[in-house]
Amino acid sequence: MTQLTEDYKQLINLANEARRRAYAPYSNYAVGAALRTKTGRVYTGVNIENAAYPATMCAERVAVFKAVSDGEREFEVIALVTDNGGSPCGSCRQVLAEFGLDAIVLIADGKEKLIQKMTVAELLPGAFTSEKLSR
Ligand code: THU
Repeated sequence: MTQLTEDYKQLINLANEARRRAYAPYSNYAVGAALRTKTGRVYTGVNIENAAYPATMCAERVAVFKAVSDGEREFEVIALVTDNGGSPCGSCRQVLAEFGLDAIVLIADGKEKLIQKMTVAELLPGAFTSEKLSR
């Protein structure tokens, strides 16, 4: 298992703390994310469910959207914590890929044990990116 550096531990801890604020009355599956930008700012996110289920938003995207709406587009690392170390959904992988394939993704469980560490490129091989669009 990869050795966790102190700053990665801190980020996983922040994601786990954020998880307490998840709004998940339907699935009871609380997810917390903590994203560190290349400028050193940290944004957290939680999943926010809705009685109209598809309106639910994932924790990772909340963190990314908070960062982007603050003018931050370059991410160094995102930590994701669920009770059982679940992996990011396809939509979140695509949204992460939009802002860089080199960011590190840390996936941890509710005991803050690292389950997986990978890059966004590894998380979403063959990602569709803006390069494919004629601009
Ligand atoms: N969820 C996330 O927050 N992130 C993911 O990557 C996977 C799923 C949330 C959405 C929903 O509130 C709950 O987990 C169960 O799907």
